[in-house]
Amino acid sequence: MKSFNKRSVDYVRRIEAALDARLPAAETEPALLHQAMRYAALGSGKRIRPLLCYAAGEALGMDPDELDDAACAVELIHAFSLVHDDLPAMDDDALRRGRPTTHKAFGVATAILAGDALQTLAFTVLARGTIGSAAGRLRALRTLAEATGSEGMTGGQAMDLAAEGRTIPLTELESLHRHKTGCLIRAAVVMACDVALEADDARRSRLDRFAGNVGLAFQIRDDVLDVEGDTVVLGKTQGADIAHDKSTYPALMGLDAAKKHADELYSAALAELEPFGEAADALRWMAAYIVQRDK
Ligand code: IPE
Ligand code: IPE
Ligand code: MG
Ligand code: MG
Ligand code: MG
Repeated sequence: MKSFNKRSVDYVRRIEAALDARLPAAETEPALLHQAMRYAALGSGKRIRPLLCYAAGEALGMDPDELDDAACAVELIHAFSLVHDDLPAMDDDALRRGRPTTHKAFGVATAILAGDALQTLAFTVLARGTIGSAAGRLRALRTLAEATGSEGMTGGQAMDLAAEGRTIPLTELESLHRHKTGCLIRAAVVMACDVALEADDARRSRLDRFAGNVGLAFQIRDDVLDVEGDTVVLGKTQGADIAHDKSTYPALMGLDAAKKHADELYSAALAELEPFGEAADALRWMAAYIVQRDK
């Protein structure tokens, strides 16, 4: 399992170069908009979604060249979601990835537009791609579009805002988290299947269930870190959920039970990988990292 330590660093370099190449240059007009897009997408993110995409590709015996567009596309959607998540009308956060949020650096109007344009760039990247089959790219594009929309991440963000200041049942909180965060994490893995496999392949269902469990565990860990993390390490303001009276796992079930639940989801995720053998070691490494991370 250790070997992914080094490969993950190589993949992070790879995705950052791929994003850089696909984003319009900072001098291209309208320059302020393009600078804001680059600022939002090229900061010091962990790149968890692209890493999951490449790791799923390893489990399926794929060449990473086949996945650069899908990995970029999901990270561009993620960057867009963060820009809008931080806006004054949403979580109203000033710090992201250790520096001012995009609207603090560029103004609210430019941040809204940068989010819009990052979203459309994600789909442009998938549609323009030349590696692999057009059918595989179209499947991936549909997966990402559905994961982003009102029945995916955007719907989850609406549920999150509607749950502020209320105590909601655990089933509702689980659905909220599976939508606002789980959908994009699932898409990262399922897009690798879209590119590599026919739709009815049994491996696809297993990897989808793996990613669903990891996606929920990821957001529970994010909630836990909001309580006990460190602002400098996190690069975002610790305690923001409490300040906004957000519905979170620690708020609803307590810190220890939230951590235990993340561990259960981690075990359930690993069980889905059994038939893949060593080919899934990168995914195992990612799942462990996601539940243990401190940022
Ligand atoms: C933060 O995501 C937003 C959530 C969905 C909780 P990440 O923790 O992946 O953020 P970066 O990309 O590493 O900054
Ligand atoms: C954000 O969840 C989910 C999306 C951006 C879709 P959070 O609001 O918990 O993310 P952070 O904590 O601000 O990174
Ligand atoms: Mg939020
Ligand atoms: Mg937020
Ligand atoms: Mg959070």
